[in-house]
Amino acid sequence: MTRGEAFLLQGGDCAETFAGATADNVRNKLRVLLQMAIVLTYAASVPVVKVGRLAGQYAKPRSSDLETRATADGQSVTLPAYRGDAVNGYEFTAAARQPDPQRLLEVYRASAATLNLVNAFVRGGYADLRQVHTWNTDFVSTSVYGQRYERVATEIDKAMQFMTAIGVDAEELRRVDFHSSHEALVLEYEHAMTRVDSRTQQPYAASGHFVWIGERTRQLDGAHVELLSRIRNPIGVKLGPTTSADDALALAAKLNPDNEPGRLTFITRFGAAKIRDGLPHLVEKITAEGVQAAWVCDPMHGNTFEATSGYKTRRFDDVIEEVQGFFDVHHALGTWPGGIHVELTGDDVTECLGGGEELRDEDLANRYESVCDPRLNRVQSLELAFLVAEMLRRDRRA
Ligand code: PEP
Ligand code: CO
Repeated sequence: MTRGEAFLLQGGDCAETFAGATADNVRNKLRVLLQMAIVLTYAASVPVVKVGRLAGQYAKPRSSDLETRATADGQSVTLPAYRGDAVNGYEFTAAARQPDPQRLLEVYRASAATLNLVNAFVRGGYADLRQVHTWNTDFVSTSVYGQRYERVATEIDKAMQFMTAIGVDAEELRRVDFHSSHEALVLEYEHAMTRVDSRTQQPYAASGHFVWIGERTRQLDGAHVELLSRIRNPIGVKLGPTTSADDALALAAKLNPDNEPGRLTFITRFGAAKIRDGLPHLVEKITAEGVQAAWVCDPMHGNTFEATSGYKTRRFDDVIEEVQGFFDVHHALGTWPGGIHVELTGDDVTECLGGGEELRDEDLANRYESVCDPRLNRVQSLELAFLVAEMLRRDRRA
């Protein structure tokens, strides 16, 4: 991703829940990510690194410590904000919102269960390229993107039949590499999960393959940056619109002092309205200084707002506009747009506005299930993949 040889697809829930660590749920998320990866790989001929926001994404930074809700009798109740299942419960009661450190044990169990499920699916044949049609079966007739996917899948089938006919060993097609990731927010947990690898004697976060530092905890002298500077995993840092080029340079110096390609990913989340003005000077300065970092676009967190209905939402068009801005900036500067980082689910939820199904404000109540930020549903995710594949194709040609 840093050298322009691969593209990162990172996606999953804003906040996983313990109750959501079920086989169906994990399979559906995996399925949409595999379908997106197929579209990107096939249409853009670029290797796609597949990373779930899963098996550990249980803690949330919040802008406000408190949440106030109106009661039926016109009063209002204020309680501590929900901080993710790692910290407290989502239910709006004083008891549930009380932080409980015992929950960290459950984070470990739910993460291990999720990773086991992922591994069972990706190694047990579910991710086999010969299954490209199977991932789509209940979907193809109901959606134009399902139909468009079906055409890609048919072409892949033909290519595979050809390879089998000429004697290429198909074993390689049976499994994929799929990785886990989450925001390293709760330092007590991350610290306890840091292990010294017996082969290399190097410290690793054993809580996930890839961990990142959020927009609210990326202070250069802060504990999050300090901890992640000491582990050897590939790591990310979110960069919002207030980031200066000097901030980014200082973060790179601290987090990747040896300037190793692949170690550090900058995940930019400017918002659709700010990316075209805000991103170029960061990329220019970082590139001019010879800093090795992958650039990844999070088109979600700069585009959240409250709908008239009261739901927290995002417009699909803003998501696309931010990704397009990201690609255009990198195209103009000759740098590599290294990937996307998205909040999505494999289910047909109604949390983000627009997309091919043209979800409207009044539709949000139908199936709004996120306990934190709004996620793209299955159709919107696949539509995003087709649009990103077109953008990528231009850069591959360039
Ligand atoms: C997130 O990724 O869920 C998140 C809170 O992002 P950010 O730190 O960029 O706001
Ligand atoms: Co979020």
